[in-house]
Amino acid sequence: MTSQKIAVIPGDGIGTEVVSAAREVLDAGCAKHGVTLEYTEFDWSCRRYEEQGAMMPPDGLERLRGFDAIFLGAVGWPGVPDHVSLWGLLIPIRRTFRQYVNLRPIRVFDGVQSPLRGAEHVDFVVVRENVEGEYSEVGGRVNRGFPDEAAIQESIFTRVGVSRIADFAFDLAASRRGYVTSATKSNGIVHTLPFWDEVVAERAAQHPDVRFDSEHIDALAAKFVLQPERFDVVVGSNLFGDILSDLAAAVAGSIGIAPSANLDPTKQHPSMFEPVHGSAPDIAGQGVANPVGAVWSAALMLEHLGHAAAAADVVAAMEATLAKPETRTADLGGTAKTADVTAAMVAHLR
Ligand code: NAI
Ligand code: MG
Repeated sequence: MTSQKIAVIPGDGIGTEVVSAAREVLDAGCAKHGVTLEYTEFDWSCRRYEEQGAMMPPDGLERLRGFDAIFLGAVGWPGVPDHVSLWGLLIPIRRTFRQYVNLRPIRVFDGVQSPLRGAEHVDFVVVRENVEGEYSEVGGRVNRGFPDEAAIQESIFTRVGVSRIADFAFDLAASRRGYVTSATKSNGIVHTLPFWDEVVAERAAQHPDVRFDSEHIDALAAKFVLQPERFDVVVGSNLFGDILSDLAAAVAGSIGIAPSANLDPTKQHPSMFEPVHGSAPDIAGQGVANPVGAVWSAALMLEHLGHAAAAADVVAAMEATLAKPETRTADLGGTAKTADVTAAMVAHLR
């Protein structure tokens, strides 16, 4: 098989540390399964912003276009406003490459303590709509500075947008335990969310093999805490999915293990894979960051690129190291360094 091309953006802080750790694990997994990936590294980051005035060069998006996937660490650094790092890099990538699915798997692994009692069988995926919905640029402010100042923010829900995210969720559930929960609030938000419900129900009818229900977001948030093991695939709009995925990551025990994929399932554009966590300036440079979130993201990338066996092997290496106290990092109550955990995963794969 010809090699696939990966753009690597380590970013800032522990982004660079977990990306080099994940690269070692990827190399071991790929070598074992005869997969060849070809990496090109980009120094786009807040460091670059401070030196050159922009997170990425003007033709940055065009340079990424030809890659099969993008692997990102984290961006953000004190002194650079967070909206600069977000809107200067991540959001343009997600929107230009029509990465309309944000995928966040959640599992409570053996050896990882959930803050919830009795949550050891939690294993579900949040599928967040990633390019429309509540996060739109449509709206504005009037009467600035006067007592009657007002702000209006429009939500955009399209039939195409809701159908494709629902289809993705149903197809994913069909490959798992066959159960989709749709997040809604059609009792309170009377235009967009009844439309969401209608379109999702239409798509559900096309997937009779998958069990389906719909829950209001407030009740659903409570069930994430009270019965997290009942979920398989949870699909939500941009805002609902954003909040639910952070809640779910908290249920799973540490932000250091949470992965994410920003997918263009049509594969017309590169998809982007990144751990959920940020650049963690508080622990950067100490060699103590948990590399598991980045490694799991790399496994999602392997799967998207068509290497399911290699991906499963990388996940097995993660499971094995998490199960042993001596290969857990400080965020999981252990004393292992990033390099120790990485070496253990590599050894497991050899
Ligand atoms: P953060 O995720 O970087 O850190 C939150 C807390 O979790 C910190 O105490 C940190 O030490 C800990 N932590 C995070 N990842 C860890 C890991 N792998 N192992 C062990 N501990 C870990 O979030 P924070 O502090 O709110 O943001 C820091 C910077 O990162 C900001 O500039 C923010 O904008 C940026 N950020 C970037 C993201 C991205 O690139 N996608 C996502 C979230 C934040
Ligand atoms: Mg969020």
